[in-house]
Amino acid sequence: MSTTTVVVTGGAGFIGANLVHLLLESRPDWHVLNLDKLTYAGNLDNLKAAEGRPNYRFEKVDIVDRAALERAFASIPRGGRTLVLHLAAESHVDRSIQSGLPFVEANVVGTQNLLDVCRAHGVERFVHVSTDEVYGSLGSEGFFTEDTPIQANSPYSASKAASDLLVRAAVHTHGFPASITRCSNNYGPYQFPEKLIPLMIANARESKPLPVYGDGLYVRDWLFVRDHCEALLAVLEKGQTGEVYNIGGNNEYPNIQIVKRILAELKRPESLIQYVKDRPGHDRRYAIDASKIQKELGWAPRFRFEDALPMTIRWYLDNDDWLQRVRSGAYRDYYAAQYGA
Ligand code: NAD
Ligand code: DAU
Repeated sequence: MSTTTVVVTGGAGFIGANLVHLLLESRPDWHVLNLDKLTYAGNLDNLKAAEGRPNYRFEKVDIVDRAALERAFASIPRGGRTLVLHLAAESHVDRSIQSGLPFVEANVVGTQNLLDVCRAHGVERFVHVSTDEVYGSLGSEGFFTEDTPIQANSPYSASKAASDLLVRAAVHTHGFPASITRCSNNYGPYQFPEKLIPLMIANARESKPLPVYGDGLYVRDWLFVRDHCEALLAVLEKGQTGEVYNIGGNNEYPNIQIVKRILAELKRPESLIQYVKDRPGHDRRYAIDASKIQKELGWAPRFRFEDALPMTIRWYLDNDDWLQRVRSGAYRDYYAAQYGA
């Protein structure tokens, strides 16, 4: 029987690690090759349960480094099929506002490099994991569909939009077998505590101030990470070349409501909320119309926010060691000693 190797880029990050766990659990015959640079956002603590599995392998690879990428793909046994789920990226909007160049390098240059190496290798399927942020911002009405014009507003979303166009060009020019996904805000285990939900949980737990940007009425469409990972497998296995699939939870909340729910769940006072200076160029509202993936690929979210938010909070409480190692930076020193800085 021929082997299936699935390459996950960015598999040590939040969504990537959840995806690696899902792959090992649900596709036990597949080999999973995780390629990750281990930036501040990549943490092998997220993959403890995968370590030592005979069908799982990690390689520290920067997707911008052509030679390293080529070596990694050359290590895949010949004769089988290779599938790719591309998640590696700089992902935090606030960091992109501080400095855009690392986003162009990882997200734009890295994606083109990966496309070239994958084409030369003859990969059978490629899923480019993008974001709803490429569509820009909505007013109080309407939803993003796959036909909404690209109107990226932050250096992060602009770099993701550029990578989407490079994938589209590879399909159009070379017949490269890729699909693009655009997902709304994820939450769940292993999310780096610079993003809204884990940051608020971590601060509330320690009774530290909870910084809410602007008026707190910015709206995001929240999706449990497991649902996102299941959608990615549906696109990998059933998606069509050249198609874009929106992925969303149909689950909109203003930020302030999320923050208040977390405080209530942790039995902490609302006096911890601190309204702070707004994010420059802050997108007002994101909301996804996910009817295409539901109709064409039969995917729909399974987790309700009412259940999955408390489950997520519980996970951070039960995994305090993980949180402390991230917040102190200890994980970085530990893995730099093993794999190099
Ligand atoms: P993350 O920041 O938690 O993880 C990113 C991972 O990519 C890290 O492990 C990091 O080490 C790795 N990486 C970064 N640059 C790299 C490079 N040059 N070479 C190899 N590896 C590199 O991000 P996440 O939240 O897990 O997001 C994963 C993907 O999903 C990203 O492409 C992001 O744009 C997209 N996305 C995220 C969300 C969300 O809500 N988190 C929503 C929609 C789409
Ligand atoms: O929509 C998908 C995107 O969601 C992904 O592409 C990005 O990778 C991911 O980071 C996320 O982007 P956001 O900017 O929406 O996520 P973030 O968690 O940074 O912020 C969510 C909202 O909360 C946003 O309106 C800003 C606000 N916020 C955020 C932080 C970190 C605060 O009010 N206070 C904060 O401290």
